[in-house]
Amino acid sequence: MYIDIAKEKFNNLQNKDVVTILSIESSCDDTSVAVVRNGRELLSNVISSQIDIHTKFGGVVPEVASRNHLLAISNIVDKAMLEAGLTLSDIDAVAVTYGAGLVGSLMVGVNYAKSLAFALNVPLIKVNHIKAHISANYLAHNDLKPPYLALVVSGGHTALINVKSYNKFEVVGTTHDDAIGEAYDKVAKVLGLGYPGGPIVDKLAKEGQNNIQFVKPNYNKKEANFSYSGLKTAVINYIHKLSQNGETPNVNDVCASFQTQAVDEVVTKTINTAKRLRAKKIVMAGGVACNSHLRERMREVAQQNNIELYYPSPILCTDNAGMVGAEAYYLLMSGEGLSDIDLTPNSLMNLKYTNK
Ligand code: KG4
Ligand code: ZN
Repeated sequence: MYIDIAKEKFNNLQNKDVVTILSIESSCDDTSVAVVRNGRELLSNVISSQIDIHTKFGGVVPEVASRNHLLAISNIVDKAMLEAGLTLSDIDAVAVTYGAGLVGSLMVGVNYAKSLAFALNVPLIKVNHIKAHISANYLAHNDLKPPYLALVVSGGHTALINVKSYNKFEVVGTTHDDAIGEAYDKVAKVLGLGYPGGPIVDKLAKEGQNNIQFVKPNYNKKEANFSYSGLKTAVINYIHKLSQNGETPNVNDVCASFQTQAVDEVVTKTINTAKRLRAKKIVMAGGVACNSHLRERMREVAQQNNIELYYPSPILCTDNAGMVGAEAYYLLMSGEGLSDIDLTPNSLMNLKYTNK
């Protein structure tokens, strides 16, 4: 039976000095395959973005995304192996994101990973996308070790997670409604700026002034949950009101005001939580961790409070398979994540599933 051999190999790998994992990420609109050594060293990390395809629709079209993953995945695996300078016989385990994400997109990566693990007769390791975002930091910072407070800011999540060890953690804050990246994308859409909105708003905000008060912040020091729907709606109402009066907004000022207020919430709640938990390190992850204002503000506030701050390079902030390989390695080292060949995607997975 496949699983019996996989179990034995999985256990043996925990004592092997060099573990090479081929990892796959296909949860949204990026098809990515990486080869990762010992959770820290990227031998390759190939990302095929579908942004050009989805831009004309103003956002990701799930059915189009899964079809394009299917078209791309074989070539991306070949490219990742070529760039790593290895052959498939060098691969010790296959890892894959199995949630959260778009079900059709996840299905492509999961089915490819199952087939590959079965054909190579190596263990299959299932990975939670949100945890993988955090683990991207292990590729970027060789010295980084838990414990730390992680802030995940992406298109689908805004969360504060108390990471106690590589695989032991507690979610201390999450989002009540829209995730921060989602708010960026919606604001960009209503301003007609295109998709994805985050990088465009970030760029235009640099040319504008924070002179429109969309929300009046009043954060309780113990509040670690986030809410972006009020801010997003205030921006949308402001733009609609102007257009009803035949006026046009100053786009740069709207971007600067929205960004300042969005970042203020995330920075204030993160630092308050870090102080409350006596965290010595803050680790940022996810697409929005690329944001220039967030990085700058968090650096200032962390420094004032004597807290070390970590975040990955932009390419490791966005969806990539390298982070999946890093997370898979630490799951393996704690004897977790082994999956049988009947693995199915879990599109709505949240952090509660991560230790299963
Ligand atoms: O982590 P990610 O690639 O995918 C998800 O797991 O959601 O994050 C994508 C999100 C999008 O909402 C995008 O607009 C946002 O990250 N983003 C940014 C920036 N770069 C990407 N948001 C603000 N500023 C940026 N520079
Ligand atoms: Zn992501």
